[in-house]
Amino acid sequence: MSSATPRPLVAGNWKMNGLTASLGEAAKLREHLEATNATCDVLICPPATLVAALATASKGSALAVGGQDCHPKASGAHTGDVSAEMLADAGATYIIVGHSERRADHAETDAVVEAKARAAHRAGLIAIICVGETIEQRKSGRTLAVVGAQLAGSVPGDATATNTIVAYEPVWAIGSGLTPTVADVAEVHGALHAQLVSRFGATGQAMRLLYGGSVKPSNAKELMGVAHVNGALVGGASLKADDFLGIIAAYK
Ligand code: 13P
Repeated sequence: MSSATPRPLVAGNWKMNGLTASLGEAAKLREHLEATNATCDVLICPPATLVAALATASKGSALAVGGQDCHPKASGAHTGDVSAEMLADAGATYIIVGHSERRADHAETDAVVEAKARAAHRAGLIAIICVGETIEQRKSGRTLAVVGAQLAGSVPGDATATNTIVAYEPVWAIGSGLTPTVADVAEVHGALHAQLVSRFGATGQAMRLLYGGSVKPSNAKELMGVAHVNGALVGGASLKADDFLGIIAAYK
């Protein structure tokens, strides 16, 4: 990945949603991708219970499958946890790490997120590392400082443009229907890009940056058109194939 405009990624994060019946939505998605030749990469991260089934059904298709979290270790006495190696074995090729819901619900620090990103790399998977400010942090003018510190602390030194993607997800935009202005997204993505270039050089130049937080078919084209936005991380609107395809259509 050496070009200045990396191939975009539209990723769906199903969060704690989805039973076996939901695989039908993914099947619809695959059928459409097959018929249209998308100009972006497409990923669904279902709950861990569906990773193997979705990966098996999607084998050989344009739809990639990922996990939503992993334990830093490969195996051991960690009841209830899932390792990156297990997700890879189930057919995942990506793992989201450091989502704000995990940072908040499970007190995940930047150091923990960095260890999880390293685990994803160790297992040969692409880590999607999430950063984002709360509304209080934005209102007090600390957005760039907060996301800059998260980026510095969460992205491991072994990151490359092929094994790492960064997702900017303002916490207040997630599931709220609110989105930052195009200027605000441009400011944050510009700052994240500059920080990655200063740390990783040409590798940082090619690292993809996703925007996430209330992305819908109606706002996708505008948000995906912002400089240094190389795709989307989508929650609610990834649960229905029609909505998700409406976002993917931003890349037609
Ligand atoms: P929504 O698209 O539902 O706002 O969620 C965004 C998100 O958290 C994706 O990881």
